[in-house]
Amino acid sequence: MIDISIKNLNKSFLQPDSENKHKYNILQIIKDLNLNIKQNEVVSFVGPSGIGKSTLLNILSGYDKQYKGDISINREINNKKLSFIFQAHNLLPWLTSIENVKLISNEESLKNDSPSKILNELGLGDFLNSYPNNLSGGMKRRVSIARAFVNEPNILLMDEPFVSLEKPLANELREKTIELINKNNVTAILVTHDLREAIMFSDRIIFCNEKPMKILLDKEINIKKSFSYDSDEVDEVYKNITMNYPNILKAM
Ligand SMILES: Nc1ncnc2c1ncn2[C@@H]1O[C@H](COP(=O)(O)OP(=O)(O)OP(=O)(O)O)[C@@H](O)[C@H]1O
Ligand SMILES: [Mg+2]
Repeated sequence: MIDISIKNLNKSFLQPDSENKHKYNILQIIKDLNLNIKQNEVVSFVGPSGIGKSTLLNILSGYDKQYKGDISINREINNKKLSFIFQAHNLLPWLTSIENVKLISNEESLKNDSPSKILNELGLGDFLNSYPNNLSGGMKRRVSIARAFVNEPNILLMDEPFVSLEKPLANELREKTIELINKNNVTAILVTHDLREAIMFSDRIIFCNEKPMKILLDKEINIKKSFSYDSDEVDEVYKNITMNYPNILKAM
């Protein structure tokens, strides 16, 4: 079953002309993009800066409605729920950790006490009543992961969720997120610049570059989504990709 279907997606922005400030130029970011993502599949997008990866996630999340083409997200069937983890934690500073999570919790989650359970699961049991300003960067990231999973989502969009974290912490949160993805049978898209991270999360990695976005390689990854960042299994796939597709990595 297809969970996310993208048909003939086109997206442009108007950008001010560098020489004439009264003139705007059309900048096409995505051109005739077609893609299907199956149920429970985790697909990573890897590619250079500025080619429209975040733009694509904004469209899929429903935040950006200014596009041409058909996006269909299988949200209705089985009461599917969509959630996000973005690079910025986007926590409201005047609410505590638990209030930030409760804010987006649905009735069922609140009834089951899911906000405190998921915060506990992410190691924040002692910080339920702390405000974001009193939490470290890593703790804020934990709250944003808790928020993404509190309603047991079916579909998850992640935009560079582990950047600018120290490696041990990034690895711990990567592993925890994969555990939650597996537990919830989530269909997910991950945008990342980190090939090892893409390998550990994904069933498929889509390498893309250029403007408008062009898919260079759509590669299946056949290892279980349970190996750690530095594991031999991830290493082997990493070596295989870097050896077999050097031109693609050069284009990154
Ligand atoms: N609101 C906007 N108005 C005009 N141009 C925009 C807007 N948002 C993004 N762009 C342009 O669209 C292009 C793609 O941006 P996007 O943020 O999707 O790239 P990205 O692939 O996510 O890059 P990165 O890896 O650096 O996060 C960039 O050239 C950017 O300048
Ligand atoms: Mg981006």
